[in-house]
Amino acid sequence: MATLPDGTRLPGRLFIVEGIDGSGKSTQLDILHKWLLGEGYVVVFTEWNSSPVVRETTKKGKKDRLLTPMSFSLIHAADLADRMERQIIPALKAGAVVLADRYIYTAFARDAARGVDRAWVRHLYSFAVRPTVAFYFRVPLKESLDRIMTGRPELKYYEAGLDMALAADSNESFKLFQGRILDEYQHMVDEFGLEVIDATKTLVSQQQKVRKIVEPHLAGVAETQPIAWRDTLALESLYGRYLAGAGQSSAS
Ligand SMILES: Nc1ncnc2c1ncn2[C@@H]1O[C@H](COP(=O)(O)OP(=O)(O)OP(=O)(O)O)[C@@H](O)[C@H]1O
Ligand SMILES: [Mg+2]
Repeated sequence: MATLPDGTRLPGRLFIVEGIDGSGKSTQLDILHKWLLGEGYVVVFTEWNSSPVVRETTKKGKKDRLLTPMSFSLIHAADLADRMERQIIPALKAGAVVLADRYIYTAFARDAARGVDRAWVRHLYSFAVRPTVAFYFRVPLKESLDRIMTGRPELKYYEAGLDMALAADSNESFKLFQGRILDEYQHMVDEFGLEVIDATKTLVSQQQKVRKIVEPHLAGVAETQPIAWRDTLALESLYGRYLAGAGQSSAS
């Protein structure tokens, strides 16, 4: 179950992925997504910083470097608040599986790394639904940097944490910033009971572990109507070995 802050239980399930940049969370979530669809579940996908409500403001704020740590934090909270009300909660009420690429722990880690008060950020996101499972893809800093620095275009100002003046060089600043975020995540594992996945393992072994954890939570989740294959064949007039002939009952 996923649970509203007031304790109300919603019939859907909310699985979220967290980890520093390049930890492989989108890769794993994408495979999980396809598997769940293949199994016939109703799945809704949502990702961090994607709400149309704040898109233009965020873009301008980043481009013109107007965002302070606190306004950066508030703008991301507005993004999640919008997706929560218009996307996540309705889907969970309908009994669907919701997959979120990054969730409140991204804000807790990043904003604290920018010096925002930890208690303040946690309180800011007190509207958020408690996830069914929160996966944390733990990877050493060097491994994630190796994965993402190759072939990546130049780092952006906020992405590299240049707003904090940790270092003049963007690559160096990015490393220091990601290191701070990694520390924050580490402290949240026990605080929020994050489900740790060793993200240095192969793609397949990580996915096996993820599915093993997800599977027991799927009982009773909304499923799509299975397509009656006989109906599909009959619609295309594909009679033969599997369909006796035109006009036959197609119940399967
Ligand atoms: N198990 C793995 N072993 C090695 N490389 C991997 C593994 N999983 C993913 N990668 C590669 O690492 C890179 C980053 O993966 P991915 O985009 O999934 O990370 P992410 O955590 O979503 O990053 P971001 O936070 O930047 O969105 C990709 O090039 C991906 O192919
Ligand atoms: Mg990603």
